[in-house]
Amino acid sequence: APSGPLAGKHVIVTSGPTHEPIDPVRYIANRSSGRQGHAIAKAASEAGARVTLISGPVDLPDPRGVTTVHVESAREMLEAVERALPADIGIFAAAVADWRVADAGGQKIKKKEGTLPNLSLAENPDILATVSHLPQNRPALMVGFAAETENVIEHARQKLAKKGCDLIVANDVSPATGVMGGESNTVHLVTRSGIETWPTLSKTEVAERLVAHVGALIGGTEP
Ligand code: C5P
Repeated sequence: APSGPLAGKHVIVTSGPTHEPIDPVRYIANRSSGRQGHAIAKAASEAGARVTLISGPVDLPDPRGVTTVHVESAREMLEAVERALPADIGIFAAAVADWRVADAGGQKIKKKEGTLPNLSLAENPDILATVSHLPQNRPALMVGFAAETENVIEHARQKLAKKGCDLIVANDVSPATGVMGGESNTVHLVTRSGIETWPTLSKTEVAERLVAHVGALIGGTEP
């Protein structure tokens, strides 16, 4: 049997972007690489957890020892998360698209002289908020991420309340920081009881420290 601080725990991690179809060949996407989420899945597995990684389209290999479910859209991601429940811990690091195309057709949109296609958008489900508010089956510990360019802590506090999660990992992604697409990350852990700021670390180190922190929280001891 696995040993480690998360032995016997089931952890669901979301990672990567989502792709929202416009038609069968086109989609709306974002620049998330999935690096931070995949590193968390790997670290949780190494800490002894059973890990289900729900990943949007990424260029990364499936982490070894982790059950990886591949999805494309936000709605597929929510469905896969619901299927993976129950879990003890949810760590939702995916960059989920806020909107999808309302009625993505089954046929490729044809170019027509003199007219432009009109794309109307619909709001995607908020996966973190949905799972954090489940009356039954809510994981005991729900962790979300917040990438902000200003008022990082204040926005993270608001997000914690709105999403109903227990912990927000907030990072400053303003252009001067070089975090976007970079190797390292400076994060603040925001809970209802306070803030903890970590030094600049690699995404692997952030993952390992986060897993240790979560293990301490779930184990009932002070991290
Ligand atoms: O609202 P925002 O995108 O800044 O929130 C970030 C947090 O919420 C992340 O943990 C992200 O994975 C999660 N989220 C989600 N579903 C959405 C939007 C965000 O799970 N539709």
